Amino acid sequence: MRRLDAEAIERELSRLGASLGRPLSVAVETASTNDDARSAAAAGAPHGAAFLADAQTRGRGRGGRAWHSPPGENLYLSVVLRPGLPASGVSPIALVMGLALASVVERRLAPARRPSAPGERAALDVRLKWPNDVLVGGRKLAGILVEAQLRGESVSSVIVGVGLNVGTRSFPPELSARATSLALLGVDDVPREVLAAELLQALGDAAMRFEAGGLAPFADDLARLDWLRGRHVEVAGVAGVAAGIDPAGHLLIRGADGVLRRVAAGEVSVASG
Ligand code: BTN
Repeated sequence: MRRLDAEAIERELSRLGASLGRPLSVAVETASTNDDARSAAAAGAPHGAAFLADAQTRGRGRGGRAWHSPPGENLYLSVVLRPGLPASGVSPIALVMGLALASVVERRLAPARRPSAPGERAALDVRLKWPNDVLVGGRKLAGILVEAQLRGESVSSVIVGVGLNVGTRSFPPELSARATSLALLGVDDVPREVLAAELLQALGDAAMRFEAGGLAPFADDLARLDWLRGRHVEVAGVAGVAAGIDPAGHLLIRGADGVLRRVAAGEVSVASG
């Protein structure tokens, strides 16, 4: 099994001119890279400090779920951000990080699209499930766990943890119908080190654009990639048909009573069928 090579990631980060990823810590195994980043942030780690591991023993997803984190196959990466934001600015940043992740995946999947195979293009469509799951062909390829540390009304640090399924070809039974990986989608020739650096570059660029211009520069991508739009959803006690994402990053839901409601955060359940 090939372990993650920290020097190769550093070389790629320099080549790409990434603004995140320094200092860089790469572990063979850890409980959760988000925990590593959080402890480091509490001890004063700077904006951009990144934590990767080849395997996680207690990888965490949103809603307290476990994140499948076997060794040698995927990317488990967490980065410390120190944005100059009020506490209310954290949920839009989660959305923006999801878009950055989707952009890396879109670029990498593009060459795998063979126009000669009708139907394949649709199957490889990359979408963002609000707030930040990356789905391809309706299956989850990657997820983000954002955890903010607040100091009063301001944000002391934001930990952005990304799990990207790169090489896994066989998922546990409870995930196999819902999850996918780059390898299963036909991309099996990109080293994890290169993907890690591309992710750090994209997350850093997106964070800078967001700090400069809020969500406005991301509006087109949000609308283009919105997987929930038109689906029957329930989130935070609000049920109805997803009707897009508003300029503040809230999910819009039109209830059976015709009223449009806005949801700032929560786990979305989607009605099947
Ligand atoms: C989700 O979709 O529920 C979020 C998944 C986030 C998983 C990543 S893997 C790296 C980082 N460390 C963790 O424990 N979780 C995040």
